[in-house]
Amino acid sequence: MEVMSRHHAPDSSLCLLLLLLFLLLGVPMAASTEQSPARLNKAQEDIMRDILSSVGSTKNWNTSSNPCQWSGVHCSSVASSAFVTRLSLPGCGLSNATILASICYLDTLRSLNLSRNFFTDLPSQLSPCPMKSELQVLDLSSNMLSGQLRNFSGFHKLEVLDLSSNSLNGNISIQLSDLPKLRSLNLSSNGFEGPIPTSIATSLEDLVLSGNNFSGHIPMGLFRYGNLTLLDLCRNNLRGDVPDGFLSFPKLRILVLSENNLTGKIPRSLLNVTTLFRFGGNQNNFVGSIPQGITRNIRMLDLSYNMLNGDIPSDLLSPDTSETIDLTANRLEGFIPGNVSRSLHSIRLGRNLLGGSIPESIGNSINLVNLLLDGNKLVGYIPWQLSRCKKLALIDLSSNQVQGNIPIGLGNLEQLVALKLQKNNLSGDIPSSFSDMSALEILNLSHNSFTGELPFTNSTQSLKLCYLGLHGNKLNGVIPSSISLLQSLITIDLGNNELTGIIPTNIGTFLKLERLDLSKNYLSGQVPSSVANLERLMCLFLSDNNLSGPLPELPKWVMVNVTGNPGIILDTEENRTSGSMKGSQDDFRSAIWVAAASFVLGFSLSFYWAGPGEKLMPRLETLHCDD
Ligand SMILES: *[C@@H]1O[C@H](CO)[C@@H](O)[C@H](O)[C@H]1NC(C)=O
Ligand SMILES: *[C@@H]1O[C@H](CO)[C@@H](O)[C@H](O)[C@H]1NC(C)=O
Ligand SMILES: *[C@@H]1O[C@H](CO)[C@@H](O)[C@H](O)[C@H]1NC(C)=O
Ligand SMILES: *[C@@H]1O[C@H](CO)[C@@H](O)[C@H](O)[C@H]1NC(C)=O
Ligand SMILES: *[C@@H]1O[C@H](CO)[C@@H](O)[C@H](O)[C@H]1NC(C)=O
Ligand SMILES: *[C@@H]1O[C@H](CO)[C@@H](O)[C@H](O)[C@H]1NC(C)=O
Ligand SMILES: *[C@@H]1O[C@H](CO)[C@@H](O)[C@H](O)[C@H]1NC(C)=O
Ligand SMILES: *[C@@H]1O[C@H](CO)[C@@H](O)[C@H](O)[C@H]1NC(C)=O
Ligand SMILES: *[C@@H]1O[C@H](CO)[C@@H](O)[C@H](O)[C@H]1NC(C)=O
Ligand SMILES: *[C@@H]1O[C@H](CO)[C@@H](O)[C@H](O)[C@H]1NC(C)=O
Ligand SMILES: *[C@@H]1O[C@H](CO)[C@@H](O)[C@H](O)[C@H]1NC(C)=O
Ligand SMILES: *[C@@H]1O[C@H](CO)[C@@H](O)[C@H](O)[C@H]1NC(C)=O
Repeated sequence: MEVMSRHHAPDSSLCLLLLLLFLLLGVPMAASTEQSPARLNKAQEDIMRDILSSVGSTKNWNTSSNPCQWSGVHCSSVASSAFVTRLSLPGCGLSNATILASICYLDTLRSLNLSRNFFTDLPSQLSPCPMKSELQVLDLSSNMLSGQLRNFSGFHKLEVLDLSSNSLNGNISIQLSDLPKLRSLNLSSNGFEGPIPTSIATSLEDLVLSGNNFSGHIPMGLFRYGNLTLLDLCRNNLRGDVPDGFLSFPKLRILVLSENNLTGKIPRSLLNVTTLFRFGGNQNNFVGSIPQGITRNIRMLDLSYNMLNGDIPSDLLSPDTSETIDLTANRLEGFIPGNVSRSLHSIRLGRNLLGGSIPESIGNSINLVNLLLDGNKLVGYIPWQLSRCKKLALIDLSSNQVQGNIPIGLGNLEQLVALKLQKNNLSGDIPSSFSDMSALEILNLSHNSFTGELPFTNSTQSLKLCYLGLHGNKLNGVIPSSISLLQSLITIDLGNNELTGIIPTNIGTFLKLERLDLSKNYLSGQVPSSVANLERLMCLFLSDNNLSGPLPELPKWVMVNVTGNPGIILDTEENRTSGSMKGSQDDFRSAIWVAAASFVLGFSLSFYWAGPGEKLMPRLETLHCDD
């Protein structure tokens, strides 16, 4: 949102909205101002009218009224005289730095919000600036400030400084050292480099340096900031071991070190910071084992994409305050510990070396939304108790050695969006209840040993299903024409099964279908001419069946494989396969990503942790013709 409005026209609708809000809410306020009809002194009135000339057109300010009544302007009054204390002009399309020079003379200003404007330069305007003496909050985020940060001195009361989402660069040495009251500093999403600044006031509570190019080690000097509650160093180029000094941060609540190149072990002192409830250390090179007890205080733990090894500590999943645990893509061995807390809503342990079976006590996690255990060496059965976790939205057990039937109860998980069980040793029928999962978007059961018929009937409720992957099983029977009820389908992959009968003639009614793989079955009859109606079709794989007759004429970018069907009349085949597959590849990908994005959007509410440095989106299955 912010990024968008930076690059688009001034958000005048927001300003209008603010004005309307002001008019609505302002009536009682105006009434109370009328009891003491305080006016600004001449100097401030003049300054405000000067500002008006820059802002007026976007703000619809009423030129004849008291500036204290303009939207985004707050005044205080003593006796009969008023003075401006807060000025909030976010997203008003401002770019002319002379307005800053005017604002600077509002020497009573405590809070100035110029977020989401187009200012390119500041410091030269801030040299004669009486405003500095009282200002407590300065928000210049999402502007177009560039170049090195110059001296920010003279703001003796400044508590909150937000310069995030600009294009500032260079080192930060002493430019911010003269802000003795600073509590919150946000420099996120700029191009700052050099070492992490350690000469800021020790009053600092929130320090956000994410999304820059800060480099070097995490300096011991950082531990001077003993009042820190939030430290976000995510997405920089920090390297080396993390000093074990976190006892110096007795109030730390959130620590984000993600997406750097940090090495060494997880610092033990983190376990003694009792206020710490969120720790993100993902996408680094941490090694060693995960300390026992790490989730005693930390409720949200992300150590994914590191090189951690050893067993998962036996108490990791058990604390009754735990919320999310992500250890994806490490080298963890041993078993998944039993005794799973009911407060957990996300467990991600995929892409490790875990063995043993899925603990039945996972059924206690009635708040569980995401369970990702893919890419391990898990054996045994899928515990039926999983169907007690009614909030499950994503189950990924793919690429393990899980066996047996799918518990029928999984079909009753009404909030399940994705069920990924591909590449296991599962067998038996696909529960017919899968036809009625109204939230289901992705069903991938490929590469198992399922038998029986396709689960879809003409009363199916799975109307959001966009990915149906049943490749490489032993499914038999016919493809029911009711499959056409699944109108959201983008991929149908029924290849390498034992399906018989014809391709339903209504196959051409899908509006979004991009990939149809029916290869390696026992299908017979003609390829329905309605296939030519599939406007989004990119891949049509029909090889190794018993199909006959001519192929309907398809656009030349459709990748078709009908080999191994002796009865097929191959007229245009050569021209098509030698066609412009390459040229259409990008279109194909973008189509897939649009589909994928809508899937992500559906998820993001439940996956998104509020807070900085967030990265967790469900890892998508990228779809390609040849996967
Ligand atoms: C502007 O403010 C003046 C003085 O408060 C008031 O009389 C007038 O009605 C206002 N005009 C509009 C368009 O709101
Ligand atoms: C900025 O505003 C000043 C005073 O209103 C005006 O003289 C100047 O031309 C403006 N500059 C630009 C680049 O618009
Ligand atoms: C500044 O305004 C924006 C947009 O209304 C808001 O999101 C932000 O929180 C404000 N900044 C401060 C420091 O209040
Ligand atoms: C920045 O401000 C500090 C403190 O006021 C001062 O000591 C220093 O010389 C200034 N540096 C520059 C480059 O202006
Ligand atoms: C810091 O700035 C970024 C980018 O503008 C924003 O997303 C984040 O919420 C801010 N964090 C704090 C603590 O102000
Ligand atoms: C930034 O800091 C690094 C490391 O201290 C130093 O090598 C470099 O010269 C500094 N760059 C500037 C522009 O001050
Ligand atoms: C740290 O916080 C405490 C309590 O809010 C406060 O009394 C103290 O002055 C702060 N320390 C610094 C260096 O500002
Ligand atoms: C991370 O550090 C390792 C070892 O110091 C180095 O080989 C690697 O290139 C670094 N990676 C990045 C992305 O900086
Ligand atoms: C850290 O916590 C552990 C366990 O609660 C305790 O035994 C240890 O003494 C603590 N260490 C420090 C330095 O406080
Ligand atoms: C399903 O469709 C078939 C054929 O159109 C019909 O005979 C049958 O009654 C339908 N079943 C249901 C449950 O609607
Ligand atoms: C077509 O499918 C057959 C059998 O699955 C396969 O061997 C062949 O490589 C495929 N041809 C192309 C051009 O992909
Ligand atoms: C295949 O392409 C060649 C050259 O473009 C064309 O002459 C020929 O008629 C085409 N064959 C068919 C069956 O369309």
